[in-house]
This record gives sequence, structure tokens and C-alpha cells, in this order.
Amino acid sequence: MSTTTRPGTPAAAPADRARQRLRELAFTSAEEMPEGAELPVVGELPAWLRGQLLRNGPGRWDFGGTAVHHWFDGMSLLHSFEVDAGRVTYRNRFVESKAYTAFRDTGKLKYSEFASDPCRTRFQRIQSMFQPQVTDNPAINAFKFGEHYMALSETPMAYEFDPSTLETLGVLYENPDMFATAHPHESPEGHMLNLAGKFGPRSTQTFFSMDPATLEAKRIGGVRRQRPTYQHSFGMTDRWLILTEFPFSVNPVDILRTGRPFIENFKWQPEAGTRIVLIDRRTGERGGEWEAEPGFCFHHVNAWEEGDDVVLDLCRFDDPSIVENLALAQLRAGADYPEDGNAYLHRYRLRPGAPRAQETRLSDAPIELPRINYRRHNGRAYRYVYGVGSGADVPFDRLVKIDAMWGAVREWREPDALVGEPVFVATPGGAAEDDGVLLSLVLDGRAERSMLLVLDAADLSELARATISRAVPPGFHGNFVRAK
Ligand SMILES: [Fe+2]
Repeated sequence: MSTTTRPGTPAAAPADRARQRLRELAFTSAEEMPEGAELPVVGELPAWLRGQLLRNGPGRWDFGGTAVHHWFDGMSLLHSFEVDAGRVTYRNRFVESKAYTAFRDTGKLKYSEFASDPCRTRFQRIQSMFQPQVTDNPAINAFKFGEHYMALSETPMAYEFDPSTLETLGVLYENPDMFATAHPHESPEGHMLNLAGKFGPRSTQTFFSMDPATLEAKRIGGVRRQRPTYQHSFGMTDRWLILTEFPFSVNPVDILRTGRPFIENFKWQPEAGTRIVLIDRRTGERGGEWEAEPGFCFHHVNAWEEGDDVVLDLCRFDDPSIVENLALAQLRAGADYPEDGNAYLHRYRLRPGAPRAQETRLSDAPIELPRINYRRHNGRAYRYVYGVGSGADVPFDRLVKIDAMWGAVREWREPDALVGEPVFVATPGGAAEDDGVLLSLVLDGRAERSMLLVLDAADLSELARATISRAVPPGFHGNFVRAK
């Protein structure tokens, strides 16, 4: 990327140059580092912190001069931080999906991604209407599921990998329907709960559960819609699965007819409002529907029951313009991020018999990529949410903790840092909800290197940082697997 100044234009201020450099580092295609390297650690890691932080996200957007169009469309790069006795070993490796190997070997995009499509001849376009080449690039999340380690995205399948080498083992399972979210929940029985979409003349959004032993999917229940909405995550309480339908919807015929990438067929229709639907986790029966103000969300935070009411928290944008704001060219060019382009912690109260949800913004601090003390508080009342925050026009420049009860906000920030999702790991036997650490993959723009940052979750003070020898793309989501 060139930063040459044109004659007659003022030279960029140092702060702008630093921000531009940070963007270059964050969105440059990475070379993989499959050999584990021990990282120098500054500070002290808690002695109880033993296990593996697995992360996933786009790591390569270009091959042979061809680039995808969107941050989300980069090829899945898995990261592993093995933590033991205060030491950290890091490696990363690309998932060898068909989409990745075809892109790598030919320098051409062969599969339809979220916001990028291969160039096709008219004949190929007609052919693809009958045999859509949907991507298998699993670039959003990484989990341990039963005895399996898997990478997944909103693709028709999940990939399994070897946690010690990050080598790709193959497709682990196929979804019951074409698209499923990359944010499944875990039921108290240890089953995976997820939401799958089938698009066609009779489109459906259906919750399903999967037994980790058999990998068999069982349908629970859902809705049928003429214009299905974009779904990235969902909420759950002990009894209910929660489908939040923001008015960013698609006529499925358009996906086949227009030849445009998947997400570009979705339309913002605020006049349709938002609909929140409860589905009984055990019976699949519908428990009610509520209307709400239009908006958009990627990530639900938590939900629980209070008597007959259901309370739902999520990170809400005013509209879906975030999808365009994360186009690769815009990010790489260091374009200003719109001030109103952030998500905020938003609460919905669903009362039986009321047609509309009660809505409240809980904090004026922007927050995205939210995490909670999941083991103890998912599906139950909670107090603390951790996430990435944003400055006036700089996205993801700080880590934040919001007290959802009182609205207090704590921050960790450093000049020229680009932060990743903070994963909460509880102190074994800890009494308080926030007794634990946050693990975040942070790009230090001044050092031009990435690091594993370890914060005390109570006050966001820094405990340690383990620095990688180079900058790596920050990615989206991950999880910590405790050592046995
Ligand atoms: Fe996500």
C-alpha cells in the first residue's frame, strides 16, 4: 500500500501516519508460522493459567494479485497460545479448506464468500444457480466440542483440526441446513445448540442441537419467513432460545438471480421493525413474539428469565452500515470510521402479553466482540461484559468492561494499539463474577508486533504480555481450553 503524498496535499500528521501503519499491519496477508515458538513474557502470568487459547479469523485476503473485497472474506488463520508454568508458546496455521487451497494454488477466488464472488462467465453464472459454490472457509470461531477441535463460520460445515499442530483434519460435520451461525451455545447437557438457515421459496431459520458423541443434528424448532434476516448469533435462557430478527433481510431468489455476493443481496428495511421470537429449547414450541425498534446486531451478550419476563442483552448498531464499513479497501486505506458506526450494550425486556419489547441502552461506551463469564452466567443474570471498544473515529482501540447493572466502564488502552476480542478465563474456585483474567490478541502498532495481552478482569490492569516476533492479523473469536 502506498502512502505517497500527492503534490499540493498536506503531509499526514504523525497520528494519522501511525494509524495508517496500524491498518497496514492488521490487514496485510499473513505468512503462516506453524512451528511453535516460545514468546518472551513481560510481567507475570497467573500460575493457575494452564491451557490453550485458540483463536480464528481472516489471515489472508490476497493470492496472485487477486484480493477478496471484505475483511470477513479472508482465509481462516488459526492461532494457538499454549500457556503453562508462566510460559507461552505460539503458532498459527491456515485451515486447508477447499476455498483456501483453490485460492492459494490458482490465485483466483473459486467459491462465493460473504461479500466476494468469483468472476464468472455468463454460462458459469447460470450453472452456479443450480450448484452454488458456497465457501467452506471457516474463518470466524474456534472451539473444543466434545473431543473435537473445530473451526467454523457461516458455512455449511465445520472443519476439524489437530490442536497440537493446528493441521487441518477434514470436515467434522455438515449443518442440517445451509447456513449456521459461528456462535453456538452449549446446553446444560453438553450439547451444541445452534441456528441454521435454509434459503429458498420457503425459507426457514431453525434451531438444532448436536450431541458431541454422535455429531447427529436434531431439529428443535424455528420460524418460516418469506424474507429471512441475517443471523450471526442468538440468545438462550434455561427455557428459551431467542431469535432476534433485525430488518436486514433478503429475498432468497436474489442470491441466485443477481450474481452478487451473498451479503449484498440483503436489504435494510427499517420500516419492517425488529421481531424477537422465543422458541422452547426442549419442545420447539413458540413462546411469543415481540416487536422492537429497527437496528442491527452481530453479537448477543446474554439472556435470562425474571419470573415470566425474559431479559436479553446484545450489542446493537443503529443500522447495518457496519457491514460496508468493514470492506477491505476501506480498512486498508485507513478510511475514517463513522462516529455513529458503533454498537452499544442494549437491553430488551420481553413481557408476556405486551406486543413490544422494552428497550434500554445500558451504556454510552461502544462495545463489540462481547464476552462474559460464560460458564457461570450464560442464561442467568450477570453483571459484567468485556469487549473491544472504539474511540470517536478509531475502531477497536481499547478493551472495555461494562457493569451492566450500574453502567460503570473500565478501559485498557495504549497508543496505536488494535485490540482483539477479550476471552474471559475464571480463576479456579474464584468467588466473584469477575475473578479471572482476560486474554486478548493485541497488535502493538509502535513495536509493529502482536502480543497476547493478559489483564486482570476485575480492574483491567495488565498482568503480562507475551510478544510475537511480528504483527499478525487480529482475527475474530476464540476460546480457552483448560489443561487437564
Ligand atoms: Fe461473531
